[in-house]
Amino acid sequence: MWGGAVLLLLAVTGAAHGTYRYTESWLTVPVDHFSFSNNATFKMRYLINDTFWQPEINAPIFFYTGNEGDITMFAENTGFLWETASDDFAALIVFAEHRYYGKSLPFGNESFSSPQKVGYLTSQQALADYVDLINHLMENLTTPVPVIAFGGSYGGMLAAYFRMKYPHVVQGAIAASAPIFQFPGLVPCGIFNMIVTSDFNSTSHECMKSIQKSWKTIDSFAGSESGRLWLNKNWKLCKPLNKTEDGLTLKTWLSDVLVNLAMVNYPYPSNFLAPLPAYPIKAMCRFLPNSSYSDKILLTSLFKALSVYTNYTGKTKCLNIQDDASPQLGESGWDFQACTEMVMPICSNDTKSMFEEAEWNFKKYSDSCYQKWKVRPQPDLAIKNYGGKDISAASNIVFSNGLLDPWAGGGVLRNYSDSLVAVLIPEGAHHLDLRARNAADPASVIQAREFHKHYIQQWMKQFYRQHKISPH
Ligand SMILES: *[C@@H]1O[C@H](CO)[C@@H](O)[C@H](O)[C@H]1NC(C)=O
Ligand SMILES: *[C@@H]1O[C@H](CO)[C@@H](O)[C@H](O)[C@H]1NC(C)=O
Ligand SMILES: *[C@@H]1O[C@H](CO)[C@@H](O)[C@H](O)[C@H]1NC(C)=O
Ligand SMILES: *[C@@H]1O[C@H](CO)[C@@H](O)[C@H](O)[C@H]1NC(C)=O
Ligand SMILES: *[C@@H]1O[C@H](CO)[C@@H](O)[C@H](O)[C@H]1NC(C)=O
Ligand SMILES: *[C@@H]1O[C@H](CO)[C@@H](O)[C@H](O)[C@H]1NC(C)=O
Ligand SMILES: *[C@@H]1O[C@H](CO)[C@@H](O)[C@H](O)[C@H]1NC(C)=O
Ligand SMILES: *[C@@H]1O[C@H](CO)[C@@H](O)[C@H](O)[C@H]1NC(C)=O
Ligand SMILES: *[C@@H]1O[C@H](CO)[C@@H](O)[C@H](O)[C@H]1NC(C)=O
Ligand SMILES: *[C@@H]1O[C@H](CO)[C@@H](O)[C@H](O)[C@H]1NC(C)=O
Repeated sequence: MWGGAVLLLLAVTGAAHGTYRYTESWLTVPVDHFSFSNNATFKMRYLINDTFWQPEINAPIFFYTGNEGDITMFAENTGFLWETASDDFAALIVFAEHRYYGKSLPFGNESFSSPQKVGYLTSQQALADYVDLINHLMENLTTPVPVIAFGGSYGGMLAAYFRMKYPHVVQGAIAASAPIFQFPGLVPCGIFNMIVTSDFNSTSHECMKSIQKSWKTIDSFAGSESGRLWLNKNWKLCKPLNKTEDGLTLKTWLSDVLVNLAMVNYPYPSNFLAPLPAYPIKAMCRFLPNSSYSDKILLTSLFKALSVYTNYTGKTKCLNIQDDASPQLGESGWDFQACTEMVMPICSNDTKSMFEEAEWNFKKYSDSCYQKWKVRPQPDLAIKNYGGKDISAASNIVFSNGLLDPWAGGGVLRNYSDSLVAVLIPEGAHHLDLRARNAADPASVIQAREFHKHYIQQWMKQFYRQHKISPH
């Protein structure tokens, strides 16, 4: 059931809206940066805060390379950029919205209506938008200032790619939880689900075993009228299971939830869909202490465990398994990207995995893309464009990865050179380091943030030397 499933790179969890202040601004950019036969333009959105900025001392621009969603959500959830811009660097804060997400729609509400219109949704076009925006921000400066890119998840991939492709525009990049190796042939397709498994297993072996057993139990319940009635009632399903195949919907939903929990297994309460407690996997596993429970007790316990995620507030009336587990992100856009450039194979073919076996079947994947979008994925395109694992010619990038994060499996976990470095956060989930500081932060994430600041300082010094600017 996982084979070919498109996973959204979840990046957005946490702070309530409205923590930070900024101005919403717009820049007109070409729909197609790479041709001379199309003059169309659109307005891209960006958020800007110049309150802390001191351009007169050549203080930097901190530029968030927006990813697959409304940019205001990334601005809210990237507290580290805000804190270090104001406290340490007197930086200009800019959050750029990725084309085809949020309000940056090249063809308005028709942006996804045909392959001709949606076809300009690529990472290369988005990076070219960001170059235009930086040139615009610089247009009235008398001396240049360094630009530091920041991003998490797909945004982290973009931050890294931005430095690789445009080193004359971006002096360095902080690429958090950026799975730039999660492409065909670069890492085993099973690694993602093995990290999720290990997150549960290291919390509680019995918990992991209980989940491993639950798939067959769900199948057997979904396969009979009485079993379905039992599940409909005891799992408080909004829409009843009517037939055997509906069990698949339930299992798909369940694996989405488990994967999401692994990504947001943060050390303090956060707000993802519904509010979550600190270390939600631990909170959940408390209900699954014994994998030898009989079927009904197992499913009853699993339902209670899932309620940590689905019903932490106690206000959920019924369980909606049809909804995607992360509806607030730009789903259509990411689905298209996953069906074109961003082909990230995920499978479950290790007997130790707690997920059901699922192969990675490119043909089926491609067919489903064609059915949805009338396009076929190009599995090698990202490797052609960005080098796959051959990144040693790049410089000035920090790759950070929380080792609890399933995306770390496709992340850069070792140093390539003095200026292409990795920092590991053993207690961290999905880009915890980019979030605002918190009293419950583990030491490793505090150190990672110091690591980032150290490298930003180095990159700035290098910039000032290169441009013969003596910083104040
Ligand atoms: C920038 O952020 C600071 C701190 O939140 C706030 O006081 C200020 O008003 C903001 N500036 C702009 C231009 O939004
Ligand atoms: C692009 O704009 C220029 C200047 O307005 C115009 O002369 C040209 O015909 C346009 N090209 C296309 C392909 O629309
Ligand atoms: C887009 O909006 C316009 C004006 O509101 C409407 O006429 C049109 O049908 C919409 N198109 C789609 C694809 O929703
Ligand atoms: C640069 O200056 C011009 C003229 O004052 C102004 O219209 C423009 O908005 C300025 N650009 C930026 C990025 O502030
Ligand atoms: C689960 O943890 C146990 C130790 O408690 C270890 O022996 C086993 O290899 C782990 N299994 C997986 C799949 O991580
Ligand atoms: C079962 O049938 C009902 C009534 O037709 C429908 O509303 C519901 O969505 C179906 N359940 C599923 C899981 O599709
Ligand atoms: C786990 O549950 C089984 C079946 O109910 C029971 O026999 C066993 O004693 C339980 N194990 C523990 C450690 O509680
Ligand atoms: C959510 O929790 C409340 C309070 O415990 C309970 O009444 C309700 O049935 C629960 N809903 C679901 C879907 O579990
Ligand atoms: C899992 O699948 C991948 C690619 O489909 C393959 O390379 C790998 O050997 C498989 N692993 C196992 C344990 O079967
Ligand atoms: C990379 O190099 C830095 C600086 O020497 C070091 O602090 C860091 O631990 C190294 N990263 C890894 C993953 O070894």
